[in-house]
Amino acid sequence: MTPRKPPVFAMTGGEARLDGRLVLRGVDLRVPAGEVLAVLGANGSGKSTLVRALLGLIPLSGGRTEIYGVPAARFRDWRRIGYVPQRLTVGGGVPATVREIVSSGRVARQSRLRPASRADRAAVDRALAAVGLAGHGHHSAHQLSGGEHQRVLIARALAGEPDAFVMDEPTSGVDAASQAALAGTLRALIGQGRTVVLVAHELGTLEPLITRCIVLDDGRVAHDGAPPKPVGEHALPGHDHVHPHGPAVPDGGPLGTWDRT
Ligand SMILES: Nc1ncnc2c1ncn2[C@@H]1O[C@H](COP(=O)(O)OP(=O)(O)O)[C@@H](O)[C@H]1O
Ligand SMILES: [Mg+2]
Repeated sequence: MTPRKPPVFAMTGGEARLDGRLVLRGVDLRVPAGEVLAVLGANGSGKSTLVRALLGLIPLSGGRTEIYGVPAARFRDWRRIGYVPQRLTVGGGVPATVREIVSSGRVARQSRLRPASRADRAAVDRALAAVGLAGHGHHSAHQLSGGEHQRVLIARALAGEPDAFVMDEPTSGVDAASQAALAGTLRALIGQGRTVVLVAHELGTLEPLITRCIVLDDGRVAHDGAPPKPVGEHALPGHDHVHPHGPAVPDGGPLGTWDRT
């Protein structure tokens, strides 16, 4: 008999305060392996705070959260998790090249005594190619546009070849071609059984890949269940009246914005 695998993330009654203000309010969320979970919600609803708390980057003021069955604060097996934060914080300092940043995604896999191996370099090359930055490894991060920064962050997570990805608005500021490339990359990862937690304002081209979605509203989970339906499709009886409002706005995806009606 094999023991049941713990979920990748398991938050129970998660509560977080930032500057004394309650930003997460009693969040219960289990993310089993292989799930592709979209975290939707208006700006300021707590999406980034939730994923940062799931990763143990923000301590909870109430409740608890585990990563692969280990309390987030004690979790150390970071090679299993790839995190794409919402923004790249370069903030002066030494100008890193694209390749250096992407290679940092391999650090959890490298031993202090073993410098980057051929396998490490190949993984970095694959990650750069996956986001359309093959041949750009020598560019300074300072030369990149916002969309290119975002692609570098995605490549860094890919380079670590983790089991689970947490991506905070990976498509914001990324052009349509890069979004299509990311959708292809995600499809491949999902086909390999990797787990994905994807924060998004609009899902756009990623929508068909989603197996479950939650919608946050003021730090609470307002919807948890089926992935969104395309605009115009009729809801089944008993559905919970959480649906996108059409028509799609020019800078939004086909889903428009989310609201509870
Ligand atoms: N470092 C911080 N200190 C204080 N308040 C914060 C901080 N970061 C975010 N907040 C507040 O917490 C709420 C949720 O923010 P966030 O999780 O970033 O939302 P989202 O990612 O959904 O846009 C917002 O009201 C935001 O202003
Ligand atoms: Mg955010």
